[in-house]
Amino acid sequence: MKERLQELQQEAVTLVEEANDLKRLQEIRVAYLGKKGPITEVLRGMGKLSAEERPVIGQLANDVRAVIQEKLEAKEQQLEEIEIEKKLSAESIDVTLPGRPVSLGGQHTLSLVVEQIEDIFIGMGFTVAEGPEVETDYYNFEALNLPKDHPARDMQDSFYITNDLLLRTHTSPVQARTMEKYKGQGPVKIICPGKVFRRDDDDATHSHQFMQVEGLYVAENVRMSDLKGVLETFAKKYFGEDRKIRLRPSFFPFTEPSVEVDVSCGMCSGKGCRICKQTGWIEVLGAGMVHPNVLEMSGFDSKKYTGFAFGMGVERLAMLKYDIDDIRHFYTNDYRFLTQFQRER
Ligand code: PHE
Repeated sequence: MKERLQELQQEAVTLVEEANDLKRLQEIRVAYLGKKGPITEVLRGMGKLSAEERPVIGQLANDVRAVIQEKLEAKEQQLEEIEIEKKLSAESIDVTLPGRPVSLGGQHTLSLVVEQIEDIFIGMGFTVAEGPEVETDYYNFEALNLPKDHPARDMQDSFYITNDLLLRTHTSPVQARTMEKYKGQGPVKIICPGKVFRRDDDDATHSHQFMQVEGLYVAENVRMSDLKGVLETFAKKYFGEDRKIRLRPSFFPFTEPSVEVDVSCGMCSGKGCRICKQTGWIEVLGAGMVHPNVLEMSGFDSKKYTGFAFGMGVERLAMLKYDIDDIRHFYTNDYRFLTQFQRER
């Protein structure tokens, strides 16, 4: 029995030494030290031994167990260390490698241009207002002197959501909303940049979604010359000091008189070229003196107050300034296009 135990110890120790993963060690542990293992077997047979032999063999069996246990633990620790070493070297980072360049995003061309426009008007004392893109028929049309069935509603084909709700076709509803908030007390001096929507087929110069900046100045004694001065300052600051503007008579239901505003062509300095279709002028926005009906409907006394309003297309202004030939570039988000226009700092 003694020999058998020593043999088992030798066997187990050799196996442990040869083992090279933790799973194998577990198998050896179960095989030799488990309840069905050979050592337990030996201990079971102890009943047959004499009283002198019993404690000797018992002691030996315990010693053998302890030796195997110890060997297993030592080997286990060794294997774990190897495992950790392996992991560490697999995950090691070479801090001397050069970094990968991170490309920083930039501002979208349209928000860039909107910021430029805002800066110019803020410099002239305007504040920036906002209004909802989903608008009621009342604010989009009626409050702007466009009653139901008015033929001029056709000037702006609309996306209706319900009978009474639509995607705003222009930023002019913000005029009415803002005047209502002021409760008949001027001055009101705001610009409102925002998205607008029209049922147009998209092509190089049309987009069913685009941006406008609305302007509104209502106070006592606001005159057409004030409108002209503000727009001239804007044109010079936005396009360049050498630019001029001219006003042509036009029609909008919410302004009277109404004008279309042209800026002198930057390509030929007004001499006439392909860009300005030989006229020397480029149309950039619509404007006019706020119609008395519009003032009254939004709670302003039209005998006391007068005002001007204008609306400009942001894409068009961007296209003219940066020589962009297709409005769809703004909405297809080609990185090569977008990164060409960054704010001068
Ligand atoms: N809302 C007009 C348009 O979208 C532009 C405009 C605004 C004209 C304000 C006059 C005054 O065409």
